[in-house]
Amino acid sequence: MVAMTKLKISLTQTIPAHSRLSATVIGVEGKAKSLKLSKNNVDERLLSLFNLDSLGVSAEVGAVKKLAGPSSSLITLVGLGKDTELDSIRQAMGSVARELGNVEHVIIDLPFKSKQELLAAIEGFHLGNYDYLAYKPKADKRKLSKLTVITELKTTALELTELEILTSAVHRTRDLVNAPANDLYPEVMVLAAKKLAKTLPIKIKVWEEKELISEGLGGIHAVGKGSNRPPRLVKMEYKPTGAKRSIALVGKGITFDTGGLSIKPAESMVGMKYDMTGAASCLQAVIAIAELKLPIKVTAWLCLAENMPSGTATRPNDVIKIRNGKTVEVLNTDAEGRLVLADGLSMASEENPDYLVDVATLTGAATIALGNRYAGLMGDDLAITKVQEAAKTTGELVWHMPLPEELRPLLNSDIADIANVKIGNRAGGMLIGGLFLREFVGIEGRTKPAWAHLDIAGPANNDSSAYGHTPKGATGATVRTLVQLARDLSS
Ligand code: BES
Ligand code: ZN
Ligand code: ZN
Repeated sequence: MVAMTKLKISLTQTIPAHSRLSATVIGVEGKAKSLKLSKNNVDERLLSLFNLDSLGVSAEVGAVKKLAGPSSSLITLVGLGKDTELDSIRQAMGSVARELGNVEHVIIDLPFKSKQELLAAIEGFHLGNYDYLAYKPKADKRKLSKLTVITELKTTALELTELEILTSAVHRTRDLVNAPANDLYPEVMVLAAKKLAKTLPIKIKVWEEKELISEGLGGIHAVGKGSNRPPRLVKMEYKPTGAKRSIALVGKGITFDTGGLSIKPAESMVGMKYDMTGAASCLQAVIAIAELKLPIKVTAWLCLAENMPSGTATRPNDVIKIRNGKTVEVLNTDAEGRLVLADGLSMASEENPDYLVDVATLTGAATIALGNRYAGLMGDDLAITKVQEAAKTTGELVWHMPLPEELRPLLNSDIADIANVKIGNRAGGMLIGGLFLREFVGIEGRTKPAWAHLDIAGPANNDSSAYGHTPKGATGATVRTLVQLARDLSS
């Protein structure tokens, strides 16, 4: 939707000429009062002019200070934290890219100790180099087109391309999620999936309303039937020859969540365009995985619906039937994510994947428990461990939460197999969401896939100010972890 200027990246050992359109980036490390500049080649005489204390320079990760440099250029100091870790580098370079959007040429002059550090810097820079301007293109002030890193280290062209594939997937996720719901509804997501998959070895199948009904996908249908814009299920299958393992990704794709007849109060409804983040993330992850040619089968299931109140909407107390045959009494139409995912998890389970990961902005309770940066992670130990490892590599934040057995009876229904909520109960909302989903993982009598549930209600969207490589608005969080998981499981 928003085409960012493609960044030209070069590594060099000679210092490029400064100009009014360039900025040289130097790091700041250590503690207050004993700050150290961390640089590679910049002229010592120039740096001796700066009094770090009086300038108020900080080593806090991502803190940026712009100073006048030679030939009208900028010298930019960026905090790298106390002990430079890979993710501090990513975050710091993300801040740099955000803050230096109005220069053309950024020159990084940091003493990278390894190729990993260098690649993390470029990754963070790409991630931060983003604005969503689809609805105010005239506000585009970003001139950044060139990144030069002064270093003796080398990367391959393939490594740089892989970083671009990954970070573009994150940008495209943000584009979809930032798009307002008047322009982004289930069919638009279908078109986006088809368009991106067109030139890749990805097979797409779409269930429209009629098929949703005839094939027993009662959850997606029930949630979508109150809207004029009909629901969809999309399957995107990437199956390279020789793949030994398989992952299914299931994403919550509520393009707008009014709550349905259990309508949300006005304030809580703002932001509900973000409720399709799970589906957008799964979509973009499978695209990136195919572009990276990872040797693993990956199937993304996008559960798409708009949750609207109307004369055709699902009512509280309605009983619906999910794909796997279980009946659900809908006591609150605002707990709709679990209904669409129930169908998605059932469909995915029919294909016996080794791993099954669902991603959803499922509960407000997740933000109460974990704040806005951590995703809640629930499920089977094996899948939990794999997701934790992948998240550690990407620097994304996940936190393992329990699925307490004693909470399951809260979902007992008088007339159906299960209810979607316990009315009046506020304790453990995120965990109850997980317990509900668990009922739809695997097929009776078969080995169950290793399942993980990511509740991303917190990290999907950043409604405070930008930080590190995270912009305001849609963040694209978890896309990189899903791709990393596929990478880890493919080797
Ligand atoms: N989409 C919301 C969850 C949500 C809330 C995401 C805030 C991001 C920010 C979800 O469909 C929902 O409304 N959940 C209810 C569940 C309740 C009815 C059991 C909630 O969290 O209140
Ligand atoms: Zn809801
Ligand atoms: Zn929702």
